[in-house]
Amino acid sequence: MKVRGYYYIFTYGCQMNVHESEKLAGVLNSKGYTATEKPEDADIIVFNTCCIRESAEQKILGNIGAIKPIKKNKKDLIVAVCGCMSQQSNMAGYLKQKFPFIDIIFGANNVEYFGEYLDRFLEQRKFQNMVIADKDYIENKNAISMARDSKLHAFVNIIYGCNNFCTYCIVPFVRGREHSRAPADIIKEVQTLVNMGYKVITLLGQNVNSYGKDLTEDINFAKLLEQITALDGDFEIRFMSSHPKDLSDDVIDVIANQPKISRAIHLPVQSGSNSVLKAMNRNYTRENYLDLVSKIKSKIPNVKLSTDIIVGFPGETDKDYQDTVDLIEKVQYSNAFIFMYSKRKGTIAEKMENQIAIDVKRKRIHDLLNIQHEISDKIFRNLINKQERVLVEDENKDSFIAKLQCGKIILIDKKSNDLKVGSFAEVKLIDYVKGDLIGKTI
Ligand code: 5AD
Ligand code: SF4
Repeated sequence: MKVRGYYYIFTYGCQMNVHESEKLAGVLNSKGYTATEKPEDADIIVFNTCCIRESAEQKILGNIGAIKPIKKNKKDLIVAVCGCMSQQSNMAGYLKQKFPFIDIIFGANNVEYFGEYLDRFLEQRKFQNMVIADKDYIENKNAISMARDSKLHAFVNIIYGCNNFCTYCIVPFVRGREHSRAPADIIKEVQTLVNMGYKVITLLGQNVNSYGKDLTEDINFAKLLEQITALDGDFEIRFMSSHPKDLSDDVIDVIANQPKISRAIHLPVQSGSNSVLKAMNRNYTRENYLDLVSKIKSKIPNVKLSTDIIVGFPGETDKDYQDTVDLIEKVQYSNAFIFMYSKRKGTIAEKMENQIAIDVKRKRIHDLLNIQHEISDKIFRNLINKQERVLVEDENKDSFIAKLQCGKIILIDKKSNDLKVGSFAEVKLIDYVKGDLIGKTI
């Protein structure tokens, strides 16, 4: 196909967005456009946005603004804005008013229809505002091709939306209600990816544990995992995110019994304080969570846990914060993503009294990151002399670059080890140098 032009996609936010940008890129490729490394060279620039925290929105607004001079010099440049930020009510009008050069706006729930919006714009050369279209994610029945970023890792959506309404979170407002994909479609997609040589497949959903609740078929997340791992091939299954209140014994048992499922589990706790958890509407207590962690650790002995934590939620006292410190010390996460609470429009927490001062939030995040850093460091140092299964993902002049399931990098000397990029290997960890683990083949 003749190259019709070049495109550049700015992607912000979570893995769901990263994957949706693969769909946007697939649409553009199928229309004859080619990716470019530089936004200045592009004929189409897409902003796939995030609104989880105010800091994300500020950064995106700055980056959209920076396109103005490019558009000035290149009148035919098409600028599209999509994703969670633009899905918010009244946001399309605000964006168009602030940046009149935007040509197409649509929401996170309509990414699979980008091709149609683009065609319509090209026909009419008139601003297309498609945001209002849908409150829930709508799959495009004319299966769109995806331009996947990696040859080894692939994302597969299993459930869209969220029904939980944690009081701080804007996701249920922009991504709508839970909506599971048909199991047969998921299995087919995973099998195709495995046949193509993909090694790690990450099942995506705001809460994968809710999978199947909205379907009439006899299916749930545990059964889906069983069906997927029954497929032939040398591959590994990961999933995210997983709400602790819905992580069933059945799912834990499937993981424990199925070596194809990753031993790295992301289990967002958000806070270690019962009063904060209650105010967040998380529907579990710290005791429930710690019991769950004990159960997981006893059934899956070499598990590595990671988490998300919010500090400075409205009303969080020093004692509440200390409960979070205590919890992360008890659980021993290999990794924690720690955020300062950010007020989001339309959420219950936005209206709560006792919003926490920014300097208190800054001190708490700073201290907690340091504490977690030491915990992670200790966990990785303790892996010395242990054996781990890794995926060899890349190489440089001296080393193979492999990763543990939790994402931690392992360097393996090329002179004394013979490995193949793109394959799994059993390695023994022999050292820990400046934050990198060193391994050797067994
Ligand atoms: N402020 C700060 N962090 C938030 N998260 C979600 N909403 C907010 C907010 N308003 C965090 C949660 C979630 C992760 C994806 O982002 O920890 O698990
Ligand atoms: Fe947001 Fe809670 Fe849903 Fe996660 S489970 S997307 S934090 S509302």
